[in-house]
Amino acid sequence: MEQVLKRVFAAKLSDLPEKLGRTVEAGGLELAIFKLADDNIRVIENRCPHKGGVLAEGMVSGEHVFCPMHDWKISVVDGKVQDPDTGCVQTYDVEVQNGDVYIYIPE
Ligand code: FES
Repeated sequence: MEQVLKRVFAAKLSDLPEKLGRTVEAGGLELAIFKLADDNIRVIENRCPHKGGVLAEGMVSGEHVFCPMHDWKISVVDGKVQDPDTGCVQTYDVEVQNGDVYIYIPE
């Protein structure tokens, strides 16, 4: 069955710091939004699959974020936890239009 998505305003592009995470509420979810060095915007679930660390508060390096609690390395592109740890977080599609960032959230 195809998933129905709704498009939700998340932030102004100009309000997002580069190479840092920011916590946003969108469609009733708490998400971590990242503006990468190449200006790409990525959005993932804001809780680490290990013990719930807040990923928006982690250090960003390239296309990865390091969980602030125990340093798990997680891709902000596909949500995969990197070796030697395992697991993944949900990722969300993003659209930037007229300087506004929108996230596609499941209905
Ligand atoms: S809670 Fe994220 S690494 Fe432990």
